[in-house]
Amino acid sequence: MSDQTLSNLLKEDRRFEPPADLAADANLKEEAYERARGDREAFWAEQAERLSWEQPWDRVLDWDDPPFAKWFVGGRLNAAYNCVDRHVEAGRGDQVAIHWVGEPVDDARDLTYQQLQDEVSQAANTLTELGVQTGDRVAIYMPMIPEAVVAMLACARIGAPHTVVFGGFSSDALASRLVDCEAKAVITADGGYRRGAPSALKPAVDEARAKASSQGHDVAKVLVVQRTGQDVEWDADVDVWWHESVGQASTEHTPEAFDSEHPLFVMYTSGTTGKPKGILHTTGGYLTGSAYTHWAVFDLKPETDVYWCTADIGWITGHSYIVYGPLANGVTQVLYEGTPDSPERGRWWKIIQDLKVSIFYTAPTAIRSFMKQGQEIPDQFDMSSLRVLGSVGEPINPEAYVWYRHVIGKDKAPVVDTWWQTETGSIMISPLPGVTHGKPGSAMIPIPGVEAEVVTEEGEAVPNGSGGYLVLTEPWPSMLRTIWGDDNRFKETYWSRYAKQGFYFAGDGAKKDDDGDLWVLGRVDDVMNVSGHRLSTTEIESALVSHPKVAEAAVVGAKDEDTGQAVCAFVILRDEAGDGGEDIVAELRTHVRKEIGPIATPRQIMVVPELPKTRSGKIMRRLLRDVAENREVGDVTTLADSSVMDLISSKQSGGG
Ligand code: WT7
Repeated sequence: MSDQTLSNLLKEDRRFEPPADLAADANLKEEAYERARGDREAFWAEQAERLSWEQPWDRVLDWDDPPFAKWFVGGRLNAAYNCVDRHVEAGRGDQVAIHWVGEPVDDARDLTYQQLQDEVSQAANTLTELGVQTGDRVAIYMPMIPEAVVAMLACARIGAPHTVVFGGFSSDALASRLVDCEAKAVITADGGYRRGAPSALKPAVDEARAKASSQGHDVAKVLVVQRTGQDVEWDADVDVWWHESVGQASTEHTPEAFDSEHPLFVMYTSGTTGKPKGILHTTGGYLTGSAYTHWAVFDLKPETDVYWCTADIGWITGHSYIVYGPLANGVTQVLYEGTPDSPERGRWWKIIQDLKVSIFYTAPTAIRSFMKQGQEIPDQFDMSSLRVLGSVGEPINPEAYVWYRHVIGKDKAPVVDTWWQTETGSIMISPLPGVTHGKPGSAMIPIPGVEAEVVTEEGEAVPNGSGGYLVLTEPWPSMLRTIWGDDNRFKETYWSRYAKQGFYFAGDGAKKDDDGDLWVLGRVDDVMNVSGHRLSTTEIESALVSHPKVAEAAVVGAKDEDTGQAVCAFVILRDEAGDGGEDIVAELRTHVRKEIGPIATPRQIMVVPELPKTRSGKIMRRLLRDVAENREVGDVTTLADSSVMDLISSKQSGGG
């Protein structure tokens, strides 16, 4: 973000007070901040009491060997029991847990907590029968159907950590994750619906399984939900239909309590190198963090609210704010399979109207695309049930914030801009809707229990009105425990930069405004944020150079009105590829889609003769970003050959 935009942002002076009725009945009050600061561990212990523990902990936090934390040490619990069974035992078995809305109109299904308990138990029995044991990893590659939630909870129930891979990822991406976590089984579907058409998933699993085998890892079983009825290839030794196994299994299953630190799941996310990081979350702390924040930040009233988070379960938001947090809190929620505008542009608003959604959580990129379509579409629907609106994934620009609040929330529902990461497991910085006033564009302050700071390169807190690096200064229950199989990378990536102070380095730049409120500005490393999805520049560069015509590639994230950032690639072709042919750009875009997935497709690919490098050979992405954002190219004095930028710029004006 340029300094100019930044100072405009910080001049934002609109303020929205919490609605009086919400404030009067708020779950957390102002005093919680002080109380948490007074005795942080006692505060977190109080939050952990939201869960049902089979055995209580004897120590809240073990931080004797930082950065390896243990929370609620000695405690034992079962995550699925907490998300399902205990609500049934409390007499709420008939309450709808999930209003599932399929993309094809009228394809909908409600699941009560009792039904969820039955299905999760059946799936748990099936997994055990297929040979999955406590501690084995299970990959989940599914569309947004109830079985996806059931699959996750069934894994949790038997203590088999899941790794959910976003259904939009390619077979290559799936294969590398299967190998990295040595998944014993995969749960998938024949396909899902996307913009009105069935879209296959099973073939990608078949390919990924073959690729994993060639790299020495065999997946033993693939459990397949029949969703679209499309033809699939079948390997009778490996493939098992869900309806023929889970559908026939016993609904009786006794959940076993696991250690608080038992691995719950691994979620892969992009880092600064080409290899995705498997972020490990464990049971007690993660569930405490997701349940507490979901209750506090959305001011959840489980008896009356209807909650809807539009994320996909393939991302951390779907884990913490569709599956674990909301279900641990016993909510009634919406689960929607499809795209926002299928079959009509008002599809989301119709769902809110029909199901009387009261809490709605989505991403700025979606809000911006609705803004473009205009207010007339949402205005056709009655959305007066909405009382809290959430935003996540990237900074929300003030225009989008105000539009969201005004057009969707009718100036009545406050917007909470929630900052967090795959690694933090749950929301860290956000207003509380009944306590904090709203400031368009600011995530405001850490929630009670969390300590964050904006610091200089040296780790000193910056004064109000200045910017620096965002750090978390104290451990929190839902923090990642490590990177799967790579403790060193865990230490190096998050804890080495401020090792002296013991701060967690988030990788984001931030600014404190004159009131001390936080503005998260975006990544300071080689990670991009495209429509709220995290992508690594290096990963896309590796994909590009794996194409036979490409010699070298550099990728930058350039500012984009719709997606926040967009992928812009600069490539040098191999000599023997000549000019690459007319369709070279299309060919490379297809190649990246295939290697990683559609979300990584470059918006723009420029074929260039050289890349700007320092004398030590490091690509100066800053300069490429100037080109991609149509700015005057900045300081080139540290380039090995300063004429390179002229070559690239002339290429660009020539239409490159
Ligand atoms: C990165 C984490 C958190 C779930 C979705 C993304 C950016 C996230 C905000 C926000 C500004 C935000 C940060 C962060 N980010 N939320 N409210 N304001 N930036 O999770 O894929 O792990 O990405 O997303 O850059 O580091 P993720």
